[in-house]
This record gives sequence, C-alpha cells and structure tokens, in this order.
Amino acid sequence: MHHCRFSTLHDRTQIEKLFKRVRDGMKSTALFNWSDQQISQELLLSDFYLNADSDGSVQGFIAHRVNTDFVEIMALGTDPSKIKNGLMLLLLNNFVQNFSNQGLEVTLEVHEQNQPAISLYLKCGFKRIRNRPSYYKDGGAALVMTFLS
Ligand SMILES: CC(C)(COP(=O)(O)OP(=O)(O)OC[C@H]1O[C@@H](n2cnc3c(N)ncnc32)[C@H](O)[C@@H]1OP(=O)(O)O)[C@@H](O)C(=O)NCCC(=O)NCCS
Repeated sequence: MHHCRFSTLHDRTQIEKLFKRVRDGMKSTALFNWSDQQISQELLLSDFYLNADSDGSVQGFIAHRVNTDFVEIMALGTDPSKIKNGLMLLLLNNFVQNFSNQGLEVTLEVHEQNQPAISLYLKCGFKRIRNRPSYYKDGGAALVMTFLS
C-alpha cells in the first residue's frame, strides 16, 4: 500500500539515495543532468513530495519550490526498479490537486526528448505553453508546461 506525503528531515538520506538512483538509471544524462553537488543543494533548497511504501521506503519524489502564486517542479523520479506501475501518476495527480486547491499554478520544464516524462505530464493534465530553445547543455530545448485547474 502506497501513500503520498510531504518529506520531513528524517527522509533526507533516503531521498538523496533515490535521487541518485533515478539519475544513474537514465540512459541519457542530458535528460536528467544532476551532479552529486546539485542533488545535495536541491535537498536544501526544495521541498519534497513523496510516494512511500507501508514499510516507509520511498519510491518516488517530486522536488518543488513553492512561490507566492505558483509552484515549480524542479525534478521528479520513480525508483528505476518500480517504474511503469502507475506510481508517479498517482503522486503527481495528488500533488497538483493539493496545490490547485490552494489556487496555485504548477509549472515545470522538461527536455524535449524526455518522452516518458512528457507523456506523464500530458496524462496528468499539464499543458505546454512555450519552448525555451537551446536550454539544456546538449542544445536541447525545454518545454515549459503548466497545470492550472
Ligand atoms: C518519468 C517517470 C517519473 C515516470 O514514472 P513512473 O512511475 O514509471 O510513471 P507511471 O507508471 O505513473 O506512468 C504514468 C504515465 O507516464 C507515461 N510514461 C511513463 N513511462 C513511460 C515510458 N517509458 N514511455 C512513455 N510514456 C511513459 C505514460 O503516459 C504513463 O501512463 P500509461 O502507463 O497509462 O501509459 C520515470 O520514468 C522516471 O523516474 N524517469 C527518470 C527521471 C525523469 O526523467 N524525470 C523527469 C524529468 S525531471
């Protein structure tokens, strides 16, 4: 049984390991380009919404920053051994409902070639609003997407 919740300080080590597992599981580094140092920094700067198992193990995360009138998703990922089980759709649906109930827009950027993530966002109800050409280190464009209920 899974449940969705915001992280506490106790989750920090587990999130850091999961974040790195997600990165190391990527075939293309360009699509999820996070150094160890950036991950450590993100743990300090962002809040995390988590998908946890009944035994407390964390299987998915959404790193995000809450601003006055919008929430920005910085990164998200599911444990590579648990992908394609509907875990992130569940987590993301909960996440956007939670914030749109508070009147906040949810926004994100995604590499134009990250098809699994783009499909996920469209399925969850995100709309593509613009492109940022040559946004990533490999020259790829970012799609800017938002969820507004
Ligand atoms: C993208 C990611 C988070 C999806 O997590 P997941 O838990 O496997 O996703 P779900 O099982 O909930 O899938 C939900 C929907 O996403 C889309 N999706 C997920 N994986 C996909 C894939 N490999 N190819 C195409 N679409 C995919 C589908 O629309 C899917 O719905 P469906 O199963 O009915 O077709 C996961 O692949 C991941 O961690 N990727 C690496 C990190 C990353 O790229 N993050 C995004 C940029 S920060």
